[in-house]
Amino acid sequence: MGYATLLTLVRGMSGTEMSEPLLKVDDMSVSFKTDAGDVRAVSNVSFEISPGEVLAVVGESGSGKSVTALALMRLHPKNTETTGQVMFDGMNLLDLPEPQIRSIRGRDIAMIFQDPMTALNPVFSVGEQIVEAIRIHNDVSKADAWAKVVDLLQLVGVPEPKQRAAQYPHEYSGGMRQRAMIAMAICNDPKLLIADEPTTALDVTVQAQVMEVLHDVQEATGSAMMLITHDLGLVAGSADRVQVMYASRLMERGSTDEIFYESRNPYTRALLASIPDLESVKDKLDSIPGNPPSLLNPPSGCAFRPRCSMSVPQCAEAVPELVAFGGNHASRCHLATEIDITTGVNA
Ligand SMILES: Nc1ncnc2c1ncn2[C@@H]1O[C@H](COP(=O)(O)OP(=O)(O)O)[C@@H](O)[C@H]1O
Ligand SMILES: [Mg+2]
Repeated sequence: MGYATLLTLVRGMSGTEMSEPLLKVDDMSVSFKTDAGDVRAVSNVSFEISPGEVLAVVGESGSGKSVTALALMRLHPKNTETTGQVMFDGMNLLDLPEPQIRSIRGRDIAMIFQDPMTALNPVFSVGEQIVEAIRIHNDVSKADAWAKVVDLLQLVGVPEPKQRAAQYPHEYSGGMRQRAMIAMAICNDPKLLIADEPTTALDVTVQAQVMEVLHDVQEATGSAMMLITHDLGLVAGSADRVQVMYASRLMERGSTDEIFYESRNPYTRALLASIPDLESVKDKLDSIPGNPPSLLNPPSGCAFRPRCSMSVPQCAEAVPELVAFGGNHASRCHLATEIDITTGVNA
């Protein structure tokens, strides 16, 4: 049996019965107590990530993607109520004592943000900061940590890593800073990387380069990744599975192919239709008409109903359930079974 076949077999099994999921989020809800009332930013969201798997979480701004990631790492602000369960490596992160959750953050779970300056301190050199991040969690000498930093910077494509390690964040370009943050995120070989809009602040060519680095790094380290983005176009080549969020709820989930070619959800299909077509000269993307609803006073029934071209009276009456389509594919839409998936979204 060839190596490739064996690998496919092992991977196929690990996705199902062979290994436990690395992360299992069960019925998680997050509400903010504000003066204006409760803002329910995440509603009954459940999902899993297997070891080594890349899950993309996609949806327009305000859908609850970042709050999902922050809440599962317990990084949400004080005025927050989180319910549900977040199992990671056999522990429920939501009721772990603070010192334990702190030792998991940055070691077993690492985050990459849109703005590298949230992770990088301007008054220390890039190298010093990564050395520090390594030494918080590992008993290694400064010299050994520095050697590792140079290797890491090399891995993420920072040229002349030895010299660059001694420079300060402001001496790096935006793309290089993002690479440095990726190096810092992987410095303790995390089991799970959470990348929240990692390329949103960068221009298009640099975006592609940083996505490639992220992809290479994920493959090289074998860590699992939760890739959060508002740009469905970004995930085509990088994710194993995709889950689409809208107005705090999971709208659709499936393999990347199921989401791109067999979507059973009008919101996903609207997102797909708004991806700029590289072959045509469409330089401004057609965004979905209208805006996401306020989560303070969400509309009755399906939250996408006011913007949905398929909506029927039933949509105002009840929030649709997730309808399963075999495997991991499921869609939250009253009309999910009626959608003609043979019609291309851009047709
Ligand atoms: N600290 C907060 N207080 C009140 N509401 C918040 C807070 N943080 C986020 N929200 C609300 O939660 C919703 C989801 O936000 P977020 O997860 O950041 O969206 P995104 O999908 O763009 O990452 C938004 O409507 C946002 O206004
Ligand atoms: Mg966000």
